[in-house]
Amino acid sequence: MELKIGNIPATKLAQKYGTPLYVYDEANMTNIMKDYRDNLKSNKYETLVLFASKAFACMEMYKLINKNGLGSDVVSGGELYAALKCGIDPKNIYFHGNNKTEDEINLGILSGVNFVADSLDEAMMLDRISTKLEKDINVLFRLNVGVEAHTHKFIVTAHVDSKFGMLIDSNDLKESINIVNNSKYLHLAGFHSHIGSQIFEVDGFYAAIDKLVSYLKNFDKKLTLNIGGGFGVHYTDEDHPIAPKEIAKMISKYVDSSLEKNNVEISKLVIEPGRSIVAESGYTLYTIGNIKQTPHKKYYFIDGGMADNIRPALYQAKYDAVVANRIDDEKTEDICLAGKCCESGDIIIENIKMAKAKRGDIVCVFTTGAYGYSMSSHYNKALTPAVVFVNGDKARTVIKRETYEDLYRNDVSEDYERI
Ligand code: LLP
Repeated sequence: MELKIGNIPATKLAQKYGTPLYVYDEANMTNIMKDYRDNLKSNKYETLVLFASKAFACMEMYKLINKNGLGSDVVSGGELYAALKCGIDPKNIYFHGNNKTEDEINLGILSGVNFVADSLDEAMMLDRISTKLEKDINVLFRLNVGVEAHTHKFIVTAHVDSKFGMLIDSNDLKESINIVNNSKYLHLAGFHSHIGSQIFEVDGFYAAIDKLVSYLKNFDKKLTLNIGGGFGVHYTDEDHPIAPKEIAKMISKYVDSSLEKNNVEISKLVIEPGRSIVAESGYTLYTIGNIKQTPHKKYYFIDGGMADNIRPALYQAKYDAVVANRIDDEKTEDICLAGKCCESGDIIIENIKMAKAKRGDIVCVFTTGAYGYSMSSHYNKALTPAVVFVNGDKARTVIKRETYEDLYRNDVSEDYERI
């Protein structure tokens, strides 16, 4: 038996496209998008699913989002540029971020996207720039609802001193809303919260929804409620995520009941899953090079590592992997799967049972579709791997493998000039 991605043997993909290689199962991503889209429903308000594109941003992904009726969460000019270029309706783009630059704000305003403002300073800046450009903007405010989701501490965002959002009872929020109310071009569109990432329990979302909904009682107008993303995925057998279809149903149902309880109406409900749309659809293929036995450890060294997946080093994230061309072999070896960077922390999996392998064998690491490619770096001048989409028995490149020339294309050798 062979490990297949879609209907294609992983080894065949490695052979054709080389390694390290990011592979995404397009059919699977499409199904998840549809599950979210078709199950976040109500007859009382509109619904919209955004893909949090920070999880995996590339042109073909924005096109896929658009094709499946999703909008996009963007957090930078770079993401916004691609979302617009791939035809996503600006009305379905929500521009997040705690420190948008003047240039980014200009681009966002001119293209007509929704802004999710993060601070009083930003509200003032949006007022100033929209007045200068004489352009209307829909503004949501990111609220810190004080709900701490149970997840890795680096990813939790909603504690009181978080760098994100404004506290519900803060003066900054009151003043920000005053700015919008007194502005000719800013229009209050709604409120947003995002309570963290890789969350398995729905209670945190429910608590955030209740806080937001009861806060909405202060407003006469029907507004948008955006409850962010953060739905967990399966990296290893320790993880027990709720299926996207169920999450969407549970959330719409809970929002309905919370609205009824609080006697509040909204115009739109928005969610922003990132990880759960792409993580499990993504695989990284590597070739094993050197194998080393130390007194207490056996290493399989792979031809990638922390430059294409920083998550184990940064968050002690756990992954599962197999030797793709030996999936029927018994897993007899206790392996440390390590990358090739000059850094002791460049370990993808600290301790895993794997089949006995040889140089040239192909390793497949599972669930690498979110925050892998998008957080990749050029450390040690690593070439960013190619990205391939698979659909059934067909494959296509969506991002080409970098070349050495690509790596140095912005290096210049200028003469000094007095400035
Ligand atoms: N909405 C907002 C405002 C966010 O900040 C995020 C993620 C999302 C939605 C999507 O969350 P997701 O569904 O992907 O959990 N680099 C970290 C994750 C950082 C998440 C940042 N914000 C990691 O690799 O685990």
